[in-house]
Amino acid sequence: MNIIIIGFMGVGKSEVGKALAGRLKLNFLDTDELIEKTEGRKIAEIFAQEGEDHFREMETEVLKTLTDYDHFVLSTGGGIVLREENVQLLKEIGPLVLLFAREEIILQRVKDTEDRPLLAGDKAQKINEILTVRNPIYNRVADFTVDTSEITPEAAADKIIEYVKSKG
Ligand code: S3P
Repeated sequence: MNIIIIGFMGVGKSEVGKALAGRLKLNFLDTDELIEKTEGRKIAEIFAQEGEDHFREMETEVLKTLTDYDHFVLSTGGGIVLREENVQLLKEIGPLVLLFAREEIILQRVKDTEDRPLLAGDKAQKINEILTVRNPIYNRVADFTVDTSEITPEAAADKIIEYVKSKG
C-alpha cells in the first residue's frame, strides 16, 4: 500500500506524512528530498539556476522512478499537481490525500522560512494568489481531504488511517 500526500506549502505534508508512515509502518518519502538528493542541490538553488519549469520536469522524473514500488507514504511538493502528467503518475502510485489549512495558518507556518522561492516577497499575497490558481486543481484531483488548521499531525494521520481502512 502507498499513500500520497498533496497540498499547498505549509499545510503539514511532511509532518503528517511522517506520522502516518510511522503509524502504518510504511517508509516515508518526500519528492523535494528525493530531488535534492539526486541533484546535490537545494530546491531554492534549482529554482534560481534553472527555473520552475525545469524543477517541474525533475518532479515528473522522480515520480516515474516510484511507480514500481510499494509500502510508502509520499509527501509531495506543493506544485506537483500543476502538471496533468504528474497527477496521472501519482494516481498510479496511490490514493491522493489533500491537506489544506486556512490562509492565516499557512502564513504562520511559513513566515520565518526563506527556502520557498515561490513565496519570496509579500508572503500573504503570494499565498493568496497561488492558492486561487491551485485550489480548483487540488480539489479536483483529491481522493480524500483533511483540514489541518486546528489539529496535530497525529490527529490528521488518524483521519487518513480511518479513510484508508474504510476503503478496505
Ligand atoms: C513548491 C513547494 C515546495 C517545493 C518548491 C515549490 C510549490 O514544497 O516543491 O518550493 O510550487 O508549491 P513544499 O510544498 O513541501 O513546501
